[in-house]
Amino acid sequence: MEIIAADKLKKLYANGQGIQSLSFKAGKGEFIGVLGFSGAGKTTLMRLLCGAIFPTGGSLQVMGQNMLAVTRPELARLRRQMTTVYQNFNVVPTLSVAQNVYLGKIGDTSIFSTLKNLLWLSPAEAGKIARLLSLLGIEDKFNERCQELSGGQQQRVAVARALYSEAELILADEPIASVDPATASLILNLFLEVKNNGKTVIMNLHQITNAVQYCTRLLVLEKGQLAYDGPPQLFLASAVYARLSGEKATGVKGEGVYA
Ligand SMILES: Nc1ncnc2c1ncn2[C@@H]1O[C@H](COP(=O)(O)OP(=O)(O)OP(=O)(O)O)[C@@H](O)[C@H]1O
Ligand SMILES: [Mg+2]
Repeated sequence: MEIIAADKLKKLYANGQGIQSLSFKAGKGEFIGVLGFSGAGKTTLMRLLCGAIFPTGGSLQVMGQNMLAVTRPELARLRRQMTTVYQNFNVVPTLSVAQNVYLGKIGDTSIFSTLKNLLWLSPAEAGKIARLLSLLGIEDKFNERCQELSGGQQQRVAVARALYSEAELILADEPIASVDPATASLILNLFLEVKNNGKTVIMNLHQITNAVQYCTRLLVLEKGQLAYDGPPQLFLASAVYARLSGEKATGVKGEGVYA
């Protein structure tokens, strides 16, 4: 089954900015990198995919759900199958790191159980969370409140929360923007592992080198339109790459290059 099917997808804000027209499909197990200049529409696309905002035209199916006619219960069900790493982290500042990670599975249980589990994390869940924090190098922050962490540490909490959710679809909006290069590689390798386990990852990135190295496919947005959809290697030879990187393209246009 297709995980995402967008056809002439449009999301125009009142000022006329946003996604102008976007058509693409994504299948299970893809690791898609979304690139583009600041303001190109990457976050808007991410918010459309997770149902935080809705299209103003065209069509969008996410895991079989028509996002133009989704009801609240359908959206809640859909959200349990996906997880989002937001550009601004969206951690709860007054909760501990472990509690924030636990919130990745919110929706699996009733509100009462969630609150109970937040206060008394079971040894099994606490163990899982501790392992994830350890993989991300912030195991010592387990009980610290998120408001006491640096930006890069909060970003790692947001990544841990997404990985803890074990969702089918991971949407990550610049998940390495606030961390050092070594931590960035670590995070990208963790997402690669998720992809290798059959999950679908869609990630907004500014780092072209990382995108080419890790992603199986690149989508490049320019002014709310799709400028490139294809394999990473061909992207390096495209005019779009030359524009985005400020460098010369390495070769001729190839298959999958639209501009
Ligand atoms: N809530 C909003 N209301 C009006 N315009 C908006 C809104 N959100 C975004 N835009 C506009 O839509 C366009 C796309 O914004 P978006 O945040 O999707 O870009 P982006 O590619 O994620 O950029 P960045 O790399 O800086 O995160 C921009 O021109 C922006 O000004
Ligand atoms: Mg953005």
